[in-house]
Amino acid sequence: MTNFDLEKIVDTSDEWITLRTGIKERRIAEEDIATSDLAYKAAVIALKEGGLSSDQIDYIIVATATPDMFFPSTACIVQDKLGAKNAGAFDLSAGCSGFIYSLVVGSQMIATGMYEHILVIGAETLSKFMDWTDRNTCVIFGDGAGAVLLGTVEEGKGLISSCMGSDGSGGDMLKLPAGGAKMPATTETLNKRLHYIKMEGREVFKYAVRYMSEAVENALEKCNLTSEDIDILIPHQANLRIIQSIGKRLKLKDDQIYINVDKYGNTSSASIIIALSELVDNGRLKENDIIAMTAFGAGYTWASAVLKW
Ligand code: COA
Repeated sequence: MTNFDLEKIVDTSDEWITLRTGIKERRIAEEDIATSDLAYKAAVIALKEGGLSSDQIDYIIVATATPDMFFPSTACIVQDKLGAKNAGAFDLSAGCSGFIYSLVVGSQMIATGMYEHILVIGAETLSKFMDWTDRNTCVIFGDGAGAVLLGTVEEGKGLISSCMGSDGSGGDMLKLPAGGAKMPATTETLNKRLHYIKMEGREVFKYAVRYMSEAVENALEKCNLTSEDIDILIPHQANLRIIQSIGKRLKLKDDQIYINVDKYGNTSSASIIIALSELVDNGRLKENDIIAMTAFGAGYTWASAVLKW
């Protein structure tokens, strides 16, 4: 869906969206496609590229803010579709920071020596929860999924540092108010359009820049690196201006930052793994490259990770 398509739906323009967000187009899942369908497709590709069969997976973690249902978990739906008969499965909900949270959790499960292969998936169909009459939100988000297979790597490689945080006092700034235990679905909640994503964009913007930058600084400090050591930063693709502000705060050069928000919009838990997947496909990652990732999202939550490739 391009910005021009959106011009026909709400009072907006390609110029406004491009200037304020850097987004030109986003992917929208078809009506009968749910988060688990995208997650499953990504998982199949990851398994194929990793040369593993589904019965070799020990755990499936699906990072998502837009699960198929409250329960069963989307991870269990994916487990069934894959026939991953030896795998435990659960969803991880940490807003747009969900992928990094899941990556850290999965990596630690392997680091303990208790598990061998963990499938971490970031998958979202945000379009299903979008108020297509609200120009403040519907121009920003998109659908997508990606998956990564975690396994043992040689000492000093893989995830070498991370930082995670939360501040629940910011919860009202980005939320899906109704449909949960606090506000169960009623005719009134439906009429008030409370089953859609609500966001105070300006507030979220300020905190996103601050916490995504600080999270990278913290994680770098923990592993005795500086921003100069970063070969590629993969920021959560929320908004081009947020990404540029982070780049400035961390004193990064343009070629140290990966950007694809123009093509996909904000795909929440899927954004970082989609970017990582593109970097792999484009042959852009070399052995021993230092990759930093950082994200911020609903909760508030934030997270960063430093990897040696
Ligand atoms: N098209 C045209 N005009 C729009 C618009 C749209 N899609 N959406 C909002 N506007 C208008 C507003 O109504 C406002 O008009 P007014 O000045 O007459 O009141 C004006 O544009 C400025 O709105 P504002 O909200 O201050 O714009 P902004 O520069 O903060 O940009 C966001 C809005 C949402 C793009 C920006 O705040 C943002 O990206 N925030 C972070 C969102 C995010 O990343 N969320 C997920 C985090 S994981």
